Amino acid sequence: MTNESKLWGGRFTEGTAASVEQFTASIHYDCRLYRHDIAGSKAHARMLAEQGLITQDECSQILAGLSEIETEISEGRFEFRQELEDIHMNIEKVLVDKIGPAGAKLHTARSRNDQVSLDIRLYLREETQRLTSLLIDVQKAFVGLARKYLGAIMPGYTHLQRAQPLLLSHHMLAYYEMFGRDRERLQDCLKRINILPLGSAALAGTGLPIDREYVARELDFPAITANSMDTVGDRDFAIEFVSCCTLIQLHLSRLSEELVLWSSEEFGFADLADSFCTGSSIMPQKKNPDIPELIRGKSGRVVGNLMALITLIKGLPLTYNRDLQEDKEPVFDTVDTVSQGLAITAELLANMEFRVERLENATQAGFMTATDLADYLVLKNIPFRQAHSIVGKTVAYCVEQGKELTDLSLDELQKFSDLIGEDVFPVLTVKGSVDSRQSAGGTSPVRVAEALAKAERDLGIV
Ligand code: ARG
Repeated sequence: MTNESKLWGGRFTEGTAASVEQFTASIHYDCRLYRHDIAGSKAHARMLAEQGLITQDECSQILAGLSEIETEISEGRFEFRQELEDIHMNIEKVLVDKIGPAGAKLHTARSRNDQVSLDIRLYLREETQRLTSLLIDVQKAFVGLARKYLGAIMPGYTHLQRAQPLLLSHHMLAYYEMFGRDRERLQDCLKRINILPLGSAALAGTGLPIDREYVARELDFPAITANSMDTVGDRDFAIEFVSCCTLIQLHLSRLSEELVLWSSEEFGFADLADSFCTGSSIMPQKKNPDIPELIRGKSGRVVGNLMALITLIKGLPLTYNRDLQEDKEPVFDTVDTVSQGLAITAELLANMEFRVERLENATQAGFMTATDLADYLVLKNIPFRQAHSIVGKTVAYCVEQGKELTDLSLDELQKFSDLIGEDVFPVLTVKGSVDSRQSAGGTSPVRVAEALAKAERDLGIV
């Protein structure tokens, strides 16, 4: 393309090298922003007309032209051109071709520097809401499982070693909380996304009489950015967004790891639906948990995207630098990866089953009520450290004898402390242990029932 037909061609005597056009173009990915770019341009045009910088008639032509372009793009009838670099110039060029001089007025008092920031903010505002509703779906799936399996007991782990018995529903509600924090974080991040950058122009503002508040109202932004230089060089909001997404992805990944373990023969705690597993091309018996594995695996790209964005900003002088064009692919890839992960996880959870008996049987070995025995002694006024040591010795004896704590007779127990009485036996049972943990946030059935009811209320389920 000759520079004559480029929107910035005036200064140039030679055409752009083909290799440069190819190297600098972002249209193959920023075309994703076309709706946001058009919405921003429409609001900008209305403001220009309101301020008398263009006529109402010119404004109407611009709006009609932009609507036409939007339809063409959405119907796949628009030809994106690499030599026009990015979505902003692709749209503007076709607008000028369509409507002539009025179209050539659209870029008045605007730069691609504030325009691209606006587009990304509009895009992220939308995606924040979409991710929030996907998070809610995942939370609902956990609450559904917590309700379905209320009462089921399972081993709780630290260091992946059996630790203390728990209610399965408590475990499900732990994830409910994690994804709840993710929702909060996104909403908090939204506060900084949701600020209008347009009107900062290239970097210094404009001498033309614009009205930024008008554009903010048109596009439903509660505020406008304060400093034009900061605005065009700022991608903090994108980094913050990807950082929120990274935590979501890491939560999905931790869950995935548990699903892989639980569905193994060794644990046998859960069955994933056939329709959510895949087979082996050689081993006929295999049913593999590929979905959680892939989610776990995709964490690398999300973390990588965050690193890419952080590194992008490091060392950039104020204000806009073309480096910033590299912000979009990591952001888009993060949105795609995390939203697909959330959607498939909600489905996977809704289609899995726990093997309640296996879970409960797994609590029968591993001295899981040792802490309960120590707490029992504490209530008999033995200092906790001493109680810990007594129970440690008791467990060592059990290991030697090949017994569980529940197998010991009163005589055997009393060898370790004469304060132990008949009332110890209910304490040593898994059910006794779970029932006793009534501290706020604990796993006892009363607390879990309360937490579940609250979660259901908060999600509007009941
Ligand atoms: N495609 C560019 C980007 O994404 C738009 C802004 C270009 N600005 C400029 N001064 N070349 O960052």
